[in-house]
Amino acid sequence: MNITTIIGARPQFIKAAMVSRAIAARNRRAGAAAIKEKIVHTGQHYDHNMSAVFFREMNIPEPAVNLGVGSGPHGETTGRMLAGIEKELMADRPDRVLVYGDTNSTLAGALAGAKLHIPVAHVEAGLRSFNRNMPEEINRVVTDHVADLLFCPTDTAVSNLAAEGITAGVRHVGDVMYDAALVFGDLAEKRSAVLDRYALTPGRYALATVHRAENTDDPVRLAAIMEGLAGIGRARYPVLLPLHPRTRQALKRDGHALLENPEGHGPVRLIEPVSFLDMVMLEKNAGIILTDSGGVQKEAYFHGVPCVTLRDETEWVETVAAGWNQLAGADARAIAAAGAAAKKGQPLTVYGDGTAADAIVRLLAGAD
Ligand code: UD1
Ligand code: UDP
Repeated sequence: MNITTIIGARPQFIKAAMVSRAIAARNRRAGAAAIKEKIVHTGQHYDHNMSAVFFREMNIPEPAVNLGVGSGPHGETTGRMLAGIEKELMADRPDRVLVYGDTNSTLAGALAGAKLHIPVAHVEAGLRSFNRNMPEEINRVVTDHVADLLFCPTDTAVSNLAAEGITAGVRHVGDVMYDAALVFGDLAEKRSAVLDRYALTPGRYALATVHRAENTDDPVRLAAIMEGLAGIGRARYPVLLPLHPRTRQALKRDGHALLENPEGHGPVRLIEPVSFLDMVMLEKNAGIILTDSGGVQKEAYFHGVPCVTLRDETEWVETVAAGWNQLAGADARAIAAAGAAAKKGQPLTVYGDGTAADAIVRLLAGAD
C-alpha cells in the first residue's frame, strides 16, 4: 500500500513522527504487507528550529519533496500547496493521502486528495472550537467533511463529528501526542540539557508559548498577554517564553520593550523556539505552563503540570473539566489570577494508552 503524507508545520512533524515510527515497526514485522510512505513537506514552516530539527531529533524519514511554499496570505499559500500536492498525487496515484491536524497544509492535502478521488485519512479529526474566526476551525471542518477515514483523539471529537452528520469511517484511536509524550518524555530526561542551558530550577519557573493568530494579530490582546505573563514573572516565577517567529514579528510591529533587551532576563525571558526534546524537558519541569497552543495544553496535562490557556475557548475541553487547565483569555488580570490559582486536576483516560499511532497504522492497512 502506498500512502502520501502531507505535513508542513511544527505540530504536524511531531504527530507524523509517531505514525512513521509505527509504519516502520509494522514493515519490520514478518507477514505484514508493507506500507510505503512518501512524505511531502509543504514548506509552510522552514526555519531550522521550526522544521529540520524535528526531522533529525525524532528520526522522521526525509521528505521526498519540499514544496517550499513558505509564508504569505492564506489563500495564496494554500493555493500553491494545493497545486504542488496535486502534481505529486497525479504522478504517484497513492492508495491514500494522510493529513494531520488543522493547518493550511492539512486543508491543501485534504482538498488535493479529495479532488483526485484519492481517499483521505485525517489524524486528529473532530476537534472543534466552534469559533469560525480561527483559520484552524475552517481547516478542520473542511478536512473532516472530505476525509473518509477520521482518526479521533477523544470521545468529544467523535461526538462533534456525529453532530455534523459524520459517522462513517470515524475511529476513536486516542491521541498520537500522548504517544509522543511517553516516548520522548523518557528520552528528554536522558538527552536534553536545556535546564542547565538556561540555569532553570525544576518547579521554579513558568513556561509560556504564544502564537495563535487571534492573539498575535491583535496588538491589544498581545499586550495584555505579555502583561499577564510579566505579572506572573514578578509575583511567582520567572517566565521562559520560546518565541514563535510569528510572535517575534508581532512584538516587533508593536515596538514591544521586551525585544529591546532580550538578554535582560526580566520577569519574562524570550528564547528562540526549542527542539521537541528540549520542549518536553521544559514542560516536565515547569511549575506552571501558560499557552495558546493546542498541543502544549495537552502536554501540560500529560506531564502533570497545571496549565493556563491564553484563549477564550479550547478544543481540549477535557483538560478544563478535569481541573488541569484554566481559560484566561487575553486579560492580564485573569492570566495573573489563573497563574496564582493553577493546580493539578483529576486523572484523565480520554487520550488513550499511548498506542494511538499503532491503531492508526492498523486501520490504514485495513487490518481492523
Ligand atoms: C500555523 C498554523 C497553526 C499552528 C501553527 C503551529 C495555519 C493557518 N496556522 O500557524 O494552526 O498552530 O502553525 O506552529 O496553518 N514564520 C517564520 N518561519 C517559519 C514559519 C513561520 O518566520 O519557519 C513566520 C512568518 O512570518 C509567517 C508567520 O510566522 O508569516 C506565520 O506562519 P504561518 O505558517 O502562516 O502560521 P503559524 O502562525 O505558524
Ligand atoms: N514545541 C516545540 N518547541 C517549541 C514550542 C513548541 O517543540 O519551542 C512543540 C510542543 O511541545 C508541541 C508542538 O510543538 O508538541 C505544538 O506546536 P504549536 O504550539 O506550534 O502548534 P499547535 O499545537 O498550537 O497547533
